[in-house]
Amino acid sequence: MTVTAGDLAREPVRLKTALSRAACTTVRGSVRLSPDIALGLVAFNSPYLFGGKALRSQLTCGACHAKEGPSGAAVRLRLRAPVPDLALLGSEIDVAAFVSRAVEYEFDGPPLPARTARALSALTRALAPYADPEANPCEVDGASLVAIGLRLCAAQAAAAHPDAEELAFVRDSLRFVLGELAESTSYEAPAALIERTNRALRAADLHGLGCGTPAHLLQLATRWDAAGHGRHFVVEYSRRGIRE
Ligand code: HEC
Repeated sequence: MTVTAGDLAREPVRLKTALSRAACTTVRGSVRLSPDIALGLVAFNSPYLFGGKALRSQLTCGACHAKEGPSGAAVRLRLRAPVPDLALLGSEIDVAAFVSRAVEYEFDGPPLPARTARALSALTRALAPYADPEANPCEVDGASLVAIGLRLCAAQAAAAHPDAEELAFVRDSLRFVLGELAESTSYEAPAALIERTNRALRAADLHGLGCGTPAHLLQLATRWDAAGHGRHFVVEYSRRGIRE
């Protein structure tokens, strides 16, 4: 029997994103992220940007643009050019425009919401270079990513005018991340917490808008903080007055 690529077990997508130290302002033990960078982190690790074809193979920005090289389905792709280190892009590249074009014309995906494109652009400016000589990089691991996404959902759910599109996007992306964590062999995933979080996000599907009550989501986010090996990240909505 011949084994084709399709029969091989798919390795989970690695979920580590390294931020530059400058992007990691720590106040009283917590790293403060702007809402744009928080959404950018979720989007960078989401297969929901590119439309159907890429979603089926679960491609994410992070699966290609990572220090450790490609992961997940991206391992099998033959790319036309080497994958650049996004932290080393010159300021002349308009990331939002580049990504919007790539999603629409290369992947045949739906137009990228302006807010998501802006978030990816903000995140790109906050990434640490692959060859970062800093001894203590500011890494967002999968558990921290779930905590950050839950905080974004909680802030939206508590807002006077929630952005339904962003909520649905964050919720779907988090469910993907939970699936990758459940499959991961390098991370001892807390199965009960994955199950509880999935249940909270699934329950929200039935009710249309939102991903649960803000209090429940923040409680789950705190559990994910404890499950990770990294730092404690909070989303700071300073000027718009939304607080955790
Ligand atoms: C399938 C692997 C893959 C995925 C997925 C991917 N990229 Fe890329 N990216 C590349 C390769 C290869 C290049 C270099 C060739 C090129 O410019 O097309 C590149 C180039 C870029 C550039 C530099 C363009 C320039 O002119 O120097 C930016 C910015 C970028 N990608 C951002 C992203 C973002 C943000 C995402 C997620 C929305 C993403 N990429 C998803 C492989 C990928």
